[in-house]
Amino acid sequence: MPNTKPLILVTHALPANWLSPLAEKCRLMVGPAGGAGFTPELEEHLLEADALFTLLVDPVTEDILERAPNLKVVSQMAVGVDNVDVAACTRRGIPVGNTPGVLTAGTADLAFGLLLAAARRIPEAQADARAGRWTTWNPTGWLGADLDGATLGIVGMGKIGVAMARRAQGFGMKIIFSNRSPLPEIEKNFNARQVPLDNLLEQSDFVSLHIPLTKETHHLIDAAALRKMKPSAILVNSARGPVVDTNALYEALTKGWIAAAGLDVTDPEPLPQEHPLYALSNCVITPHIGSASFNTRRRMAEIACQNVLAGLEGRRLLHCVNPEWMQHISSVQRPSLSS
Ligand code: DGY
Repeated sequence: MPNTKPLILVTHALPANWLSPLAEKCRLMVGPAGGAGFTPELEEHLLEADALFTLLVDPVTEDILERAPNLKVVSQMAVGVDNVDVAACTRRGIPVGNTPGVLTAGTADLAFGLLLAAARRIPEAQADARAGRWTTWNPTGWLGADLDGATLGIVGMGKIGVAMARRAQGFGMKIIFSNRSPLPEIEKNFNARQVPLDNLLEQSDFVSLHIPLTKETHHLIDAAALRKMKPSAILVNSARGPVVDTNALYEALTKGWIAAAGLDVTDPEPLPQEHPLYALSNCVITPHIGSASFNTRRRMAEIACQNVLAGLEGRRLLHCVNPEWMQHISSVQRPSLSS
């Protein structure tokens, strides 16, 4: 008897209980840990794959889709889907799922942590303490920036931007923001002002990025943008690396166009060990850990599993980035999931 359960290609090893909602109803082919993406072993099975369970490091290209003619759903365990050719999925009538909501607080926590770390030079001070450079209580040593009364400019007032504003309010910061659509309610709730990006860059003591990576936002923060910022300003990026021009940022940090940066995302990613940004004491770098809390990652996997199951059955995904996929649906038969 051939196995008729749908085949799910999971690109990266995950704790078994994170995938348990799928285990009973589907055949799972799970790739190795370590970010290898579509290994030759997984690629061999694209032809029969019914669903892809992907991470943000796995390019889901036209070529991959071409080789997976039975695909019913792409389920990404992340909110950002810039690694997925969403337009190509839509043309093929394939819904693309993502996992917003559950990582809002975690990502805002990390972004705020980077803001504090860069403002108060925490990693630099720790390195000095460990290296024996803490020789006295130095009245002029490790001086940083105050948060209280400072202006935070939030670029992109989506869920994570709002969560960042909430945290900033608690620290006595003034908030300005830029966003594609007007948000009068947010202005009211946070006593904040919505301003064009250029004004935000000029006026902010801290700038925090919370926008997706798209053609429009690629290198949004380039040399010209960095030059508009205050020399005392601190840039925080927990969104996507390529939103910032890395070479321009290096120049900005070394030439004093801005004071410091806190980066949870970089371009490229991972940032190679020999990259000059690591040598800068005014640049705090973490390895894309915005959503890396036990609960958040487990819940992201849970939603990704639910999106797989919904996609296989032709139901509405919990979170779908291309609801227009339905207009392109072909006669592809959705497999039965009865176990
Ligand atoms: C996402 O979900 O896009 C985040 O970058 C993961 O931390």
